[in-house]
Amino acid sequence: MRVWRRWFFLKVAAQKTLERVISKAGLGSRTQARTWIHARRVTVNGKVVENPDHWIDFDRDKVAFDGKPLEVSEKIYLLLHKPAGYITTFKDPEGRPTVYDLLQGVETFVSPVGRLDLDTSGLLILTNDNQFAERMTNPEYHVPKTYRVGCEGAVADDAVQALRRGVELSDGPTRPAVVKRIDAQTLEIVLTEGRNRQVRRMIEAIGNQVGTLTRIRIGGVGIGALEAGKWRWLAGQEVEELRPR
Ligand code: URA
Repeated sequence: MRVWRRWFFLKVAAQKTLERVISKAGLGSRTQARTWIHARRVTVNGKVVENPDHWIDFDRDKVAFDGKPLEVSEKIYLLLHKPAGYITTFKDPEGRPTVYDLLQGVETFVSPVGRLDLDTSGLLILTNDNQFAERMTNPEYHVPKTYRVGCEGAVADDAVQALRRGVELSDGPTRPAVVKRIDAQTLEIVLTEGRNRQVRRMIEAIGNQVGTLTRIRIGGVGIGALEAGKWRWLAGQEVEELRPR
């Protein structure tokens, strides 16, 4: 089952919509890609394609932008210390700040590897390496992510035990997790799942509330002394150590 699912995942990763192909080539966001496709600037095998949802098969199709064949851009990987109050999408209809406002000096379009909520701070990896991003966020690869959680109230020992065993959420029980107590209200939780607002919902399930939430580590890469709002390149060795196989 697991092997079949992984095959299916890789097969789907080898085909992408035209909109994604343009954006993942590092030319711009998916919204920009749609605009360019509608403006007839994109061809597939020499013919203009105006449908952003047109499926591209990398083994067969040749895509060009303004007449120039799409170049596979160099893969880049960076680590941002996302401050609370920034969203992880490219554009926000409500005009809130986005993580892209913090990426001065990054010339290639990169996408976040997974999401962090508006109010969550901490380590966010961004890359133009689609396969890396998809594997990092695929729960089957069990990439551990460590969160430091400041709770609004003190957390009792039996609540810590419940978090370790797994708690019941609306979308099913959580997997057993490593949970370390830092002080009466602060925990470190290591998750290998990546469900929507998972830490916040786990803390609510034990009758408490998250005050502050920071992701401090992904796999073996920690946030270190990087200041909130700053980014740095990931070293080649860090990327290879993180890369799920
Ligand atoms: N869990 C959450 O609740 N929020 C995040 O941003 C990440 C993990």
